[in-house]
Amino acid sequence: MKRVALAALAAFMTSVAAVPAGAAATADAASIVRGGRLYDNWSRESKERLPNHPNPAFKTKQVRVAAADTWRCSECHGWDYKGRHGVAGIRGRRNTDPAAITAVLRDANHDYTELLHESDRKDLANFIAYGQVDMQSLVETARRAKSAVPIFGKLFASACATCHGLDGDRLREIPPLGDGARQRPHEILHVILNGHPGGRMPALRTLGEDAAAKMLAYLQTLPSVNLVASIVNGGRLYDDWQIHAGGPGQALPHPAYPPKAYYANAPAMTWRCKECHGFDYKGNQGEYASGIHATGIKGIRAMAGADPEQIMGILRNGTHLYGAVLKYRDLLDLANFVSQGQTDMDAAIDPRTRLSRGDADRGAAHYRAICAGCHGLDGHFTAKRTLSREARANPWESLHKILNGHPDEAMPALRELDRKVIADILAHIQGLPERH
Ligand code: HEC
Ligand code: HEC
Ligand code: HEC
Ligand code: HEC
Repeated sequence: MKRVALAALAAFMTSVAAVPAGAAATADAASIVRGGRLYDNWSRESKERLPNHPNPAFKTKQVRVAAADTWRCSECHGWDYKGRHGVAGIRGRRNTDPAAITAVLRDANHDYTELLHESDRKDLANFIAYGQVDMQSLVETARRAKSAVPIFGKLFASACATCHGLDGDRLREIPPLGDGARQRPHEILHVILNGHPGGRMPALRTLGEDAAAKMLAYLQTLPSVNLVASIVNGGRLYDDWQIHAGGPGQALPHPAYPPKAYYANAPAMTWRCKECHGFDYKGNQGEYASGIHATGIKGIRAMAGADPEQIMGILRNGTHLYGAVLKYRDLLDLANFVSQGQTDMDAAIDPRTRLSRGDADRGAAHYRAICAGCHGLDGHFTAKRTLSREARANPWESLHKILNGHPDEAMPALRELDRKVIADILAHIQGLPERH
């Protein structure tokens, strides 16, 4: 994979771009790009462990920044190198003596001691002296460069798509590249030029700053998250993210799960969103107010329509801890589901009788067309259970699954169909025989 990418890069360089002299001649280009990656995130690049405490040099209390990020050069000095959070920039050190910069990296503001090796300081200094580009004007170049985009599409398809996918949205650790490039152009340009920390991504600095700006312009044309697909995936994760994302279930109970509640001895269960917040999304105000699923925890209805960023913050917080077990895109899908995907269950199901408000006869034809291929006319589900029994015992769960599909299964998600049709299908499966 790496060889293909590099071969494509080499071919591209000889076809369109002249390697710029200047910087590369002054210092080793490999040292500059490595310095750029250390500047982005030195701990990831050098595989050196971060201190557990926040950086004492991080003075501002105005913004909340994760402790780990307070150690990143980029957090204090910015992606445009002009400084952030009241800290000065590093622009003034362009084309100055790298040895003097190395000395700064040992001063009182930079208590990195043995966390940075001598070679790291040298690479950082080379980056600061010779690697800083004029971000503002390059982002402006990207804005005007849309006509140069097709040829960069070819470079992307050959050198980048192996990892990122042709639409730039294959990696679940990061937002789709299109969204990143539109929302954080300076940071993305820094990564295009230098590669990303700790990775094997090719650095495009050798192609020249202009080429990097045009790659940014190309990335800005790539698609955003598909909202419906994201919501549906979020719905499946809400149901059971451990099964849906694959891999082993959690071995210890979720710390927020009440130790006296029914599933306390079934750790994997306690990590499912639905276990604490309910399939009717009402938590202690709904179906899970009592019975084996009761936890006393509130629902998520109040967060319908909320900003997905805010919801992602909740999922990463000290109560939930999902930042440690789920990838960026999973958190985003869950947030989109919470914000846009919650259905008003009462409109489809009478909570008193647990029966669908739909019409079973009208649902029959839809059931035969859409469901019977997998579930048969009798609605079998597993060897022992039937759809009918499940749909009468917990119609909210059945409805959630009809709308969003079943975790890690090919079952179609029907949320884009008319809600009346869906209620009719639910009524139909409630009326099927309870036994095989
Ligand atoms: C917690 C914030 C913080 C972090 C993180 C940080 N610095 Fe600094 N840096 C400072 C402060 C404060 C100064 C002094 C300038 C000022 O008072 O604004 C400074 C000054 C500098 C200067 C001198 C600027 C000049 O023009 O004299 C350089 C170069 C520099 N830092 C590089 C780095 C590098 C490289 C890293 C990452 C290894 C880094 N810094 C991480 C806070 C930080
Ligand atoms: C060998 C695999 C690989 C190749 C090839 C690759 N990348 Fe990456 N790239 C990654 C990984 C992995 C990440 C995510 C790193 C992380 O977790 O932060 C990433 C991150 C990025 C980011 C940062 C995104 C963000 O939101 O912070 C950009 C921009 C990017 N890549 C652009 C490119 C471009 C342009 C190319 C082609 C020149 C390319 N990548 C080729 C693996 C690759
Ligand atoms: C073990 C129980 C538990 C699990 C599992 C759980 N949560 Fe929560 N959740 C809570 C508690 C407790 C609160 C309220 C207290 C708080 O915000 O700290 C809460 C609050 C929330 C809120 C804010 C609701 C509001 O109106 O303020 C959202 C949204 C949310 N959870 C979503 C999720 C999602 C999505 C998942 C699955 C990825 C999940 N939760 C899994 C216990 C849980
Ligand atoms: C492509 C095959 C497929 C199709 C089509 C399909 N399903 Fe499923 N469905 C499954 C699988 C597989 C499961 C999970 C079975 C298991 O857990 O072993 C499932 C599970 C379910 C469940 C969950 C039962 C529970 O309580 O856990 C319901 C409800 C359901 N399907 C209803 C439907 C309905 C209604 C339709 C038509 C609108 C439908 N399915 C179409 C494959 C399918």
